[in-house]
Amino acid sequence: MTTPTLPGAFLSAEQLRAFSDAHRTVRQYLPDPMPQEHLDAVLHAAQRAPTDATAQMYSFIHLTDPALRQQVADLTVNPHFATAPVSFVVCLDVHRLNVFLEHHGYERGEWPGVAVHFGVGDAVLAGQSMLLAAELLGYQGCWIGGVLTNLQALVDLLGLPEGVLPFAGLTLGRSAETPAMRPRIQRALVLHENRYREPEPAELDGMQTDMAAITARGDWAQTLARYFAKGGGMEVREQGLQDVLARQGLAPRTALQAATGTAGEEAGA
Ligand SMILES: Cc1cc2nc3c(=O)[nH]c(=O)nc-3n(C[C@H](O)[C@H](O)[C@H](O)COP(=O)(O)O)c2cc1C
Repeated sequence: MTTPTLPGAFLSAEQLRAFSDAHRTVRQYLPDPMPQEHLDAVLHAAQRAPTDATAQMYSFIHLTDPALRQQVADLTVNPHFATAPVSFVVCLDVHRLNVFLEHHGYERGEWPGVAVHFGVGDAVLAGQSMLLAAELLGYQGCWIGGVLTNLQALVDLLGLPEGVLPFAGLTLGRSAETPAMRPRIQRALVLHENRYREPEPAELDGMQTDMAAITARGDWAQTLARYFAKGGGMEVREQGLQDVLARQGLAPRTALQAATGTAGEEAGA
């Protein structure tokens, strides 16, 4: 028997499943611009996201200048930044919060690690709310972690002050492609009851099988290793991110000295 839809519900469980299964990351878009009413509605949804302590530690850089969009596409090696009808760089932002507090007479606190923790959380919640809202309106999109590829250059290009850091890009538009649904690992691997449970060897084999469909040779471990194993792309990104975290005031002061190769005072810390 189907569980009845609750009073106040927007969807039945079945409709929610259908909506979730319709999600696809899309990188090729029809050229039609997003009508202003739709853009306003998805930005409204983004701002309705829950936020730590009501602080709203995020900013969206809306890329509307074609030349700038191309520069961002080149820096991030993600051409859809330039070709999507709507492109954003989603940033964690504790700068506005600090400026607000100083404006009202409060001394700035020293909490760079917490800023990264809750700033990334706020940015992701707002950005994913925007993507879900766009999907509800019939658009598709793509998160773009490629912002880490030339991070300092991107920070400079967008004029991001201390306390602001790109988390990812987000492109939106009507899809011009029909990708297959990309699988996920078994729920039992991501859902733990009361205590963390290590995966069994058979489950580690099962992950390889369950995710084979998104790989060229059926070897998901090999696919992931190119990013995450020794010598993979994430190690290349790591030092650049650590340096930018320090320069953007999002790492302990000693890290700024290491990044600039100077003593704190010389580095303006
Ligand atoms: C934080 C994050 C960063 C991502 N970075 C990129 C990227 O740089 N370029 C890209 O084309 N897709 C990127 N993606 C999209 C993923 O590749 C995509 O979500 C994944 O393959 C699963 O596919 P699906 O969303 O269609 O289920 C990113 C997704 C997330 C959440």
